[in-house]
Amino acid sequence: MAHISIFVGSVNGGAERLSVDIAKQLDQAGHESTVIMDASVDDIKNAKNILVITSTTGQGDIPSNLAGLYFALNSTFPMLTDKPFGIIAMGDRCYGDTFCGAGRSFDELLRDLQAKPVGSRLEIDASVDYDPLPVAQPWLNSWLNKLQA
Ligand SMILES: Cc1cc2nc3c(=O)[nH]c(=O)nc-3n(C[C@H](O)[C@H](O)[C@H](O)COP(=O)(O)O)c2cc1C
Repeated sequence: MAHISIFVGSVNGGAERLSVDIAKQLDQAGHESTVIMDASVDDIKNAKNILVITSTTGQGDIPSNLAGLYFALNSTFPMLTDKPFGIIAMGDRCYGDTFCGAGRSFDELLRDLQAKPVGSRLEIDASVDYDPLPVAQPWLNSWLNKLQA
């Protein structure tokens, strides 16, 4: 059994819906999860396992409800040494080079803070996969296996 804190970045609700669906699945599988929409640095410092689920807005930008955490982490730089994390990045390949930019930025920052990547980042392309859940499900199962290995 793992406790997973889900840090959500969402503008139009897609990443938020996926986070809630994933939290339900985690709970059904006997884990504990918390979905956090407006996270603080303490939330991430206190998390046992971090799962960031974020869309991208603007031109590769982090949604405003998650951007505060990103900038606070960047300026206070708390070490998250060996804290396991995973990233589900949602975007749209039509945006070219900024595809999934928010998820990429968070991935880089958590690595800089010495958190421990579990598996590799999932990138979901809304121009191909209208419903993100079927793409996220197998990734989640494999992420959980690695987390508990
Ligand atoms: C104004 C706007 C800007 C966007 N900019 C990007 C972008 O730079 N890169 C990207 O990969 N996707 C971009 N997207 C696509 C969204 O990230 C994608 O549709 C996502 O699934 C939306 O999730 P949400 O409903 O949680 O906000 C943008 C969407 C909108 C509406």
